Amino acid sequence: MDRRQFLGTATAAAGAALIPSGAHGDGRRRLAMPPLRDTRATGRLALTARPGTVRFLGRAGSVTAGFDQDYLGPTVVMRDGPLGVTVDNALGETLTVHWHGLLVPGEHDGGPHSAIAPGGRWTVDMHLAQRPATVWYHSHTHGATARHVYFGLAGVIHQTDGRDDDRGLPNRYGIDDLTLVVQDRRFDADGRLIYAPEPTDILNGFEAGRVLVNGQADAVAVVPPGIVRLRFVNGSNARFYSLHFDDGRPMHLVATDGGFLPRPRALEFLRLAPGERAEVLVDFAAGGPTPTLLSSRGGRMRVLPFAVDGREPVRIVRVPDRLDVDPLPDDAPDARLRRFSLTMGGGSSGQSRGTAPPPLSHAAQAHAHHGHAGHGGGTHGAIVGGGPEAIGTRMNDFAINGRPHDMRRVDFEVPLGATERWIVTGGGGVEHPFHVHGVHFRVMRIGGIPPRAEESGWKDTVGLAGETELLVRFDHRAGADAPYMYHCHILEHEDAGMMGQFTVV
Ligand code: C2O
Ligand code: CU
Ligand code: CU
Repeated sequence: MDRRQFLGTATAAAGAALIPSGAHGDGRRRLAMPPLRDTRATGRLALTARPGTVRFLGRAGSVTAGFDQDYLGPTVVMRDGPLGVTVDNALGETLTVHWHGLLVPGEHDGGPHSAIAPGGRWTVDMHLAQRPATVWYHSHTHGATARHVYFGLAGVIHQTDGRDDDRGLPNRYGIDDLTLVVQDRRFDADGRLIYAPEPTDILNGFEAGRVLVNGQADAVAVVPPGIVRLRFVNGSNARFYSLHFDDGRPMHLVATDGGFLPRPRALEFLRLAPGERAEVLVDFAAGGPTPTLLSSRGGRMRVLPFAVDGREPVRIVRVPDRLDVDPLPDDAPDARLRRFSLTMGGGSSGQSRGTAPPPLSHAAQAHAHHGHAGHGGGTHGAIVGGGPEAIGTRMNDFAINGRPHDMRRVDFEVPLGATERWIVTGGGGVEHPFHVHGVHFRVMRIGGIPPRAEESGWKDTVGLAGETELLVRFDHRAGADAPYMYHCHILEHEDAGMMGQFTVV
């Protein structure tokens, strides 16, 4: 058996390997990576979305959803060039698959306009040309994104140029290069996954007290006593993390959403908003043998214990001084200015009522989804149920610039090749993570000051901790049939209407 334990077996309690005894022989399971799917030789990717069952806490099984497995999907390795993709929908309800962070035209982007009917197939011939980065894919289904992602319809992509050895970056998947999908989840007394948002969960976003990594609770990441690369994906519906090690050891930030930083930045705390990714290097030769990764934002939470195992092979012993990167775009004083105001519950701008037609399409769609409850059923574990598409749209207050999302309305048009300055503000006393499809942008200022390390590189998602100024260049086309989305990545807010769409022509 391969020395790495993969998600497909490790989530079933019986199939999981116990971590080696000795340094940490306490019977906990070794954290498994999602299976690796390397498309570089074939230029092809086939994924099937399907329902599954997982015993997350080793007790009752939960009805879940995943791509080619019970929960989440494979980690897909991609490189520049052509990539033929098919997605089959065996889920039993409509879905779409969005490549969050891939720079592809609107018709390949997998937004809500690219619906795959139950039993249907979506075929796209993409051409990739972008910086190496950790990006991800997830359901982006009209009114149902929050519920779909919660139950597992997400996975990670490593966009690579094959040059990480030259950069001195760890790249042995599951050994010194760990992919970590961080998600908070609620469970009932029997250990079943719960998603039943109340109105307050729509307002705040659906948060939970338990953190899963790669769909696993209570697993231990086993690492060599050297430099290890951790690729974090915040796949939570709504939770922001402030990640740090209990012994205070630094994390050397080397990449943000869209690519590498020019040089590593040492951080004690790494902030990660929903939808964001970050790659860090951590030295596990220094310090104690069992550091634990915690998060302290909105209360202290345990995220992932580590166990340093001297028998694991060490390849990289120092953090590189610099990395080769695409320079960020220069400030463009003549860039066209657009302003965006994200509002909820009456909003801070006072303009969120009365300016747009009621979002009938949401209600209709929610209704249609309920009609497809072909698997599961009942209150426990069914992935079809009352979600934000049912509750949030009744609240009818989630909007951008006063207008709730409407699939039939294109909010604006950008000329292909243009650079624009976007000034984005959030309302309602919540930090909204703002995400734009089809682009990687530069954050110029947040709350009037230059961005911190986490927002200093190429980005596609940014927490609106204050008025946020972005410089965005639009290099890919999106027509009215499949426009790009911009939205809050608190998925309950998105589904409730805090989203707009634009074309690039
Ligand atoms: Cu990660 Cu429009 O989404
Ligand atoms: Cu996206
Ligand atoms: Cu929001």
